[in-house]
Amino acid sequence: MKSQEIRKKFINFFAKRGHNHQPAAFLIPENDPTVLFTSAGMQQFKDFYIYPENAPATKVTSVQPCFRTSDIEEVGDTSHLTLVEMLGNFSFSDYFKHDAIKWAYEYIFDILKLPMSRVYVTVFRGDKQTLLDDESIKIWRELGIPDKKIKMGDREDNFWGPTGDQGPCGPTTEIYVDGYEVWNIVFNEYYQDKNGKCAKLAKPGVDTGAGLERLTAVMQKKKSVYETDLFSSVYQKVGQLATKKNL
Ligand code: GLY
Repeated sequence: MKSQEIRKKFINFFAKRGHNHQPAAFLIPENDPTVLFTSAGMQQFKDFYIYPENAPATKVTSVQPCFRTSDIEEVGDTSHLTLVEMLGNFSFSDYFKHDAIKWAYEYIFDILKLPMSRVYVTVFRGDKQTLLDDESIKIWRELGIPDKKIKMGDREDNFWGPTGDQGPCGPTTEIYVDGYEVWNIVFNEYYQDKNGKCAKLAKPGVDTGAGLERLTAVMQKKKSVYETDLFSSVYQKVGQLATKKNL
């Protein structure tokens, strides 16, 4: 499946389920001095987790170019990029764990038709500050994910946010295909202030980030994101330019 189709199917899938399609924000955030670049799909929607009444809709979907340097040490391997296209579906005090997980499941297995043999999921194992996410475990089980494919992750991998030094954050559940994390659902239950203090949000929300480059790589059965159709024109051009004369 071509990357263009994966992107289009994602937006159509969530639009059909009542999501309002919002345009991407600029890479330089307009109203958020806490970050230099837009680094997540939820960046432009950050305030809607606190003030859902200001959101254009309570269910939103978008495709957001994101510039990330938090994993700079890994950039250059087969799956980490500095600029990614993030497919997102967001809930501002609307749906929560059940629908977010069910729709992720349906997109991965019914729309992309990825086989269960290549997939596993992770769930937050809980720690001193936040409880084990047993609700997500139950939902994955009910959908038919076998227990051996539901792995526990700690805070480093299964707790996300905030972007910048303050904002919404919460435990995540993630989908892995061929060992690559391709889908990250954040359950924004908390708000972290500038001093690192977390308070429970009045109404929780959902923030999904699904990296188009990785989804494309697994769909096209490529070992690296650079081998997907998203990069083929760059490869071709570099190949043309990289003649012995130019080296
Ligand atoms: N949903 C969190 C992220 O952008 O990865």
